[in-house]
Amino acid sequence: MANSLFRRKTITEQPPEHQLARTLSWPHLVALGVGAIVGTGILTLIGVGADRAGPAVLLSFVVAGAICACAALCYAEMATMIPASGSAYTYSYATLGEVIAWVVGWSLILEYSLVVATVAVGWAGYANGFLAARGAALPDVLTHGPTLAGSVANGTLHLATPGINVLAIVIIGVVAGLLMLGTRESARINTALVVLKIVTLTLFVAFSLPYFDAANLHPFAPLGYGSTPGAGGVKYGMMGAAAIIFFAFYGFDAISTAAEEAKNPERDLAIGIVGSMVACTIIYLIVAAAAVGALHYTKFADSPEPLALILRGIGQDTVAAVVAAAAVIALPTVILGFLYGQSRIFLVMARDGFLPTSLAKVSARGTPARITAVTAVLVSILAALTPLDVIASLANAGTLCAFIAVAVCVLVLRQREPNGRRPFRTPLAWLVAPGAILGCLYLFTSLQSITQISFFVWNAIGLLIYFLYARRRSLVA
Ligand code: ALA
Repeated sequence: MANSLFRRKTITEQPPEHQLARTLSWPHLVALGVGAIVGTGILTLIGVGADRAGPAVLLSFVVAGAICACAALCYAEMATMIPASGSAYTYSYATLGEVIAWVVGWSLILEYSLVVATVAVGWAGYANGFLAARGAALPDVLTHGPTLAGSVANGTLHLATPGINVLAIVIIGVVAGLLMLGTRESARINTALVVLKIVTLTLFVAFSLPYFDAANLHPFAPLGYGSTPGAGGVKYGMMGAAAIIFFAFYGFDAISTAAEEAKNPERDLAIGIVGSMVACTIIYLIVAAAAVGALHYTKFADSPEPLALILRGIGQDTVAAVVAAAAVIALPTVILGFLYGQSRIFLVMARDGFLPTSLAKVSARGTPARITAVTAVLVSILAALTPLDVIASLANAGTLCAFIAVAVCVLVLRQREPNGRRPFRTPLAWLVAPGAILGCLYLFTSLQSITQISFFVWNAIGLLIYFLYARRRSLVA
């Protein structure tokens, strides 16, 4: 039994009907990474972070960025050493064994599906605001998922308002259609939108930095530097905010799912992962400094559109409108990056026998069209019907689990195969990988308890499915 739980997968050549077309070079991969990373985190969560930490949210960015940088270096080593689709799931399967790979794959589903659903719902909110301003608002029932009231504990849980978020379904459908059309075509459109996104953030910095006033940074850490539970189980302080700001940094890991579509994976995956991470960290630190310096944090904390609010606060209404509009146009790149990643992870799970193998069939254009369609339907249901406020932070929990697994894989392989071929070597691996593991564990403890409990429940369900069903279907067996 123990042997079968820890059986490992050998990476082999795929049969032609399961082979993806290699169409991506490193600029596509950097753009895919920046497209997936820069999104709701910097556009919205910077306000939530400021609410929880005050101006010390700047340090929350530094902490979350440093932990993600360690994880990115580990991803670069694993992605170039095992250049196969499936990301942390595949690395764990080849290194740590089947049952751990299953838990990691199950956690990745949380990360990718919930990010797609969260961003789609956020985008739908902006888009509906845009339609409403032009007198074309959708009926209220079509603009949000159902809301619940009461509590499970005393048996009063009930549907408060019915609803279905139609625009969230539409944007997921459009992005999925594009991905099914072709990976290269999707990458081109993604690159154009990424440029728009960077221009938007540059505009924000150019107009807000001249208003930088050091007085806005006082008091710097009104809620302390740690992570202290407050009302509703929310954790306040610099580290409490870092656990949320973490959301802004990930997405570089989606590049590792492109391993079988990269023209030169051994070189380009490392450039894509490390390059996009470094670029985004620099951009974020400048944007965050400009934001907390231009306006006192109490004026934009917890705003759904903090960057536009700051610009309006310093009298730049027109730039605020441009930034808000460009953000809406460019936000779907996050959906694209994560939907792409989720479909590749499901594809590999199907090839491994854990999902119907017929789903792994690749279309004539070299894209995994079937699995992309199935993934889009699943995340659309999630985005259309689920009240997302609590489960969005679950995406962070899933990601933290995957990051820990990849850093562990680096250490295990350094030990087991010290002379294995490593086109990219994590510098100071015995400091960087433990740094990623301990940092991610600390951020996990800084998440709200409801998120932590939900994460364990999700994985318990996953393990039940593994033991009752998936274990017997494993093709590796
Ligand atoms: N990093 C991505 C975002 O901020 C998930 O939207």
